[in-house]
Amino acid sequence: MAEKKSHIYLTGFMGSGKTSMGKALADISGSVFFDMDNIVEGSQNMKIADIFKVKGEPYFRELEHRLLVELEKFEPCIIATGGGVPCDEQNLQLMKRSGVVVYMKCTTDELFQWLEINKGDRPLLAGKEGVELLAWIEAELQRREVYYEQADIIVDGYHISPEDLWEKIIALRA
Ligand code: S3P
Repeated sequence: MAEKKSHIYLTGFMGSGKTSMGKALADISGSVFFDMDNIVEGSQNMKIADIFKVKGEPYFRELEHRLLVELEKFEPCIIATGGGVPCDEQNLQLMKRSGVVVYMKCTTDELFQWLEINKGDRPLLAGKEGVELLAWIEAELQRREVYYEQADIIVDGYHISPEDLWEKIIALRA
């Protein structure tokens, strides 16, 4: 019988460690790993920051949604989603029906400390520093948690090991 919950979707705020965890879980399980941000960039031949600048955020969100629809059809795999992906009811329902959704939960302070130094060229963080960045993360995390908290598995993003998370996923599927 086909496994009902096939994919593993890693969700969480920017900087919560979804990509590193996804790669580690792929190593443990021998599954294929996809990073949605990378695929979107490759499909447009543009950095996400440029997609936001040139085409706008709604266009980017549509690309994310279409990619999710394509990935749903794929063989069981591990997917690091962009931080905004689950914050859309359609996306969230798609993920929940086709896989195990994991929320890599981190506190505002943890995210702030990491993102302050590792902001990269994330368009939503551009131009925000110090207390302004902290306040934005706090408000945005609060808004998004309504969605993030609907995950099947919620873990302490910065402290759980890939092995422990893998065990939780196996237990849920059993
Ligand atoms: C976004 C998160 C980013 C990227 C884009 C928007 C968001 O991905 O998709 O900049 O809305 O949270 P990461 O969560 O991998 O940083």
